[in-house]
Amino acid sequence: MTETILVLNGPNLNLLGSREPDIYGSDTLDDIAARLTERGKELGFVIDLRQSNHEGHLVDWLHESQDRGVKAILLNAGALTHTSVALYDAIKAIDVPVIEVHLSNPLAREDFRHASFVGRAACGTISGFGALSYMLALEAAASL
Ligand code: DQA
Repeated sequence: MTETILVLNGPNLNLLGSREPDIYGSDTLDDIAARLTERGKELGFVIDLRQSNHEGHLVDWLHESQDRGVKAILLNAGALTHTSVALYDAIKAIDVPVIEVHLSNPLAREDFRHASFVGRAACGTISGFGALSYMLALEAAASL
């Protein structure tokens, strides 16, 4: 059976393409999903990409990944990265490896983006490469 790599996206990432393109680029989340799906196929994985503006949806999807036998999770939690103890706890509560992903490099931006609850629980972080961050994270996930 083909294994799944789950790609979870948090608040405001549905607006990629039109949202502050100077920071986040012009690719939409659909563009990124298409590229991940194509590369995932080459690597032998199904890509399941989801987005929600609601913290609880992300928590539920993290929990469910365990029962679904997901191989790894790429998580761009958006602003929840910097605020959500609930996401930290959810990542800690599951055995599925989580890779933190960001389009921008939060460490090179405002101070309030420097803390990451997701990063404290994730197995690694890839940030600062625009849409390519997701592709690099997929390569990392596939080789875990
Ligand atoms: C982001 C960085 C976060 O600080 C921000 O709140 C986002 C996007 C990124 O992908 O660069 O929504 O996660």
